[in-house]
Amino acid sequence: MTDSIQTQLIQATTQIDPTTGAIVAPVHHTSTYHQTSVSEFGKFDYSRSGNPTRELLETAIAELEHGTRGFAFSSGMAAISAALLTLSHGDHLVIAQDVYGGTFRFVTQHLPRYGITATFVDPQDLDAVVAAFTPHTKVLYLETPSNPTLSVTDISAAAELAHQHKVKVFVDNTFMTPYLQQPLLLGADLVVHSATKFLGGHSDLLAGLVVTNEAKLGEQVYNVQNSFGAVLSPADSWLLLRGIKTLGARLDVETASAEKIANYLISHKKVTHVYYPGLATHPLSHIHLTQSKNGGAIVSFDIGGEEQVKILHRHLRLPVFSVSLGGVESILSYPRTMSHAAMSTTDREERGITDGLLRLSVGLENVEDLIADLDNALSYL
Ligand SMILES: Cc1ncc(COP(=O)(O)O)c(C=O)c1O
Repeated sequence: MTDSIQTQLIQATTQIDPTTGAIVAPVHHTSTYHQTSVSEFGKFDYSRSGNPTRELLETAIAELEHGTRGFAFSSGMAAISAALLTLSHGDHLVIAQDVYGGTFRFVTQHLPRYGITATFVDPQDLDAVVAAFTPHTKVLYLETPSNPTLSVTDISAAAELAHQHKVKVFVDNTFMTPYLQQPLLLGADLVVHSATKFLGGHSDLLAGLVVTNEAKLGEQVYNVQNSFGAVLSPADSWLLLRGIKTLGARLDVETASAEKIANYLISHKKVTHVYYPGLATHPLSHIHLTQSKNGGAIVSFDIGGEEQVKILHRHLRLPVFSVSLGGVESILSYPRTMSHAAMSTTDREERGITDGLLRLSVGLENVEDLIADLDNALSYL
């Protein structure tokens, strides 16, 4: 019998202590482990290579994403970098054009120094994806829905095409989490997360996760994790395990509220565009809703320009105005100066990241309060 994801979220993060019966796993604050033999070491020898608290988290995320191995890192960017550093000099990757700004920076500023090149494409256009493949292409890197314009890629179709060309598919599943979307079941080979966001859920830690479902790729990721050493600490592993337990309950409320807010915004005359993959007006909502449970908890919207953004910022009372997303508090971000500041104006404009674009991560506040707050602030435009 397979448990539902709600049950898995609890089961996978709980480990009953065999000696005390404690139901919450301890934080194993240790860097090293006593060995009883000089030649044969136990399961753990040094905490960069493995730690029991981190291992529980890594096993949990592997189970939740239907993979075989999980890896926990000190941030989402550490996880993404480790996944991409499985590539070698001379390799090429094809990557979605509107990925997270930090991923864009790593791929454009750092990978080329190691002889790894990239071609950015609009992955909604699968012909363009295939056209970008070269004999050296090893990875197709996707983010769906993307940050911040929530464009959607058909994961199954992209994976089928990529595999025909012997290209592996990596998916950043930060916005959806395994509660809403499970890319490995749709054909992806590797999933990455900024667990700083919904998985952690309380804006109190930085973490990244990778999940693989194939032994060789898993071994390569482990090798990079152990060699580069950007592992998640035992204390943060514990905090993340606790966050994951309530992921389903949080997302049920946050996604229902996001849908209501998207519907409110779309009918507002001062809002020029609403990006939300759960709305029928989203051009690829039909694809999104076949591969995900619902539209998620992020709504992006355009109010025309920077002046309008300043006015809204001045009058909004409830959301915090900051970088990041996925917390229990609603978070309003301005991608132009925040998540996508690393992009040039041209690169940003090509991706629809205009001066009037805002991204709202809907939290656990009462949705009517959030709408009333938005309504009041928008009345000043
Ligand atoms: C979609 C996505 N991926 C990756 C990252 C990077 O994660 P972190 O900030 O935990 O390094 C972010 C951060 O905002 C993100 O939004």
